[in-house]
Amino acid sequence: MAVNNALELAGYGPVIPVIVLQRVQDAVPMAQALVAGGVRVLEVTLRTPVALECMELIAREVPEAIVGAGTVRSVADARAARDAGCQFAVTPGYVSEISLECREIGLPLLPGVATASEVMAANADGLSFLKFFPATAAGGIPMLKALGGPFTDVVFCPTGGLTPQNAPEFLALPNVKVCGGSWLTPADAVAAGDWGRITQLAREAQALRG
Ligand code: 3PG
Repeated sequence: MAVNNALELAGYGPVIPVIVLQRVQDAVPMAQALVAGGVRVLEVTLRTPVALECMELIAREVPEAIVGAGTVRSVADARAARDAGCQFAVTPGYVSEISLECREIGLPLLPGVATASEVMAANADGLSFLKFFPATAAGGIPMLKALGGPFTDVVFCPTGGLTPQNAPEFLALPNVKVCGGSWLTPADAVAAGDWGRITQLAREAQALRG
């Protein structure tokens, strides 16, 4: 499944799981568990030494999954993600050089912003689907409403501090089409190989509506 534009990611469901994998052997069963719950877009963060290997495995062995790299912090990270078979990249903040590189290598990018200036920098590089991070700490719903004033054509994916309880309120905003969160893949469930719990959390997340 090729992704041409990051905004297409919002079409697969209301929540993109933000995933931290500590062990290579967890990658495929976790991805399968999420897909079984209807969640296909998976952001695997580059926060562990095994992350790239995990992305490669998911890309190869779980064809229903649309795997992307999170925590991309450099041009080298973006290239490594593309080489691992990722279909998109997510950055925590805005760096123009990374945006331009992603465009160059054909990797759809969902870049992080937290201020009006960062939204303007992303817009100047042609991007209008942006991650709002860290969502609750950076002003939450009032901030998204305020950004909706000047930036009528910008769509946000709030991430950071979202829960199954507060996600519906974020998803109800007109400038939010999807949100991100780590709650679908709790570290204890992954460590215990409790894939049934992850499928259930995925199902519940997939059913969330604004
Ligand atoms: C992160 O930084 O790990 C993501 O933004 C997810 O944040 P969360 O753990 O608050 O969902």
